[in-house]
Amino acid sequence: MRGDRVPVATPLPTELLRLTECEDGPVLVRGARVVVDAQGVTHPVTRPVVALCRCGASQRLPWCDGVHKRLGKRETSTG
Ligand code: FES
Repeated sequence: MRGDRVPVATPLPTELLRLTECEDGPVLVRGARVVVDAQGVTHPVTRPVVALCRCGASQRLPWCDGVHKRLGKRETSTG
């Protein structure tokens, strides 16, 4: 299941973590020092802003590599 591959960003306890969701794309993360993926592997963050894959199809997980653009729009639930 692709959802098992979606990473989690973890800020240091005293830092502000800012997230921006891109429609049908990654989450842009500002303020993170590390990202812990679904397998518990820690990835150091060396840039002020990083893009985390939400589609699970990236070949560079946990980072977005742009492949989501080829997957098309996600269906959304309207209730
Ligand atoms: S969100 Fe998955 S590759 Fe961009």
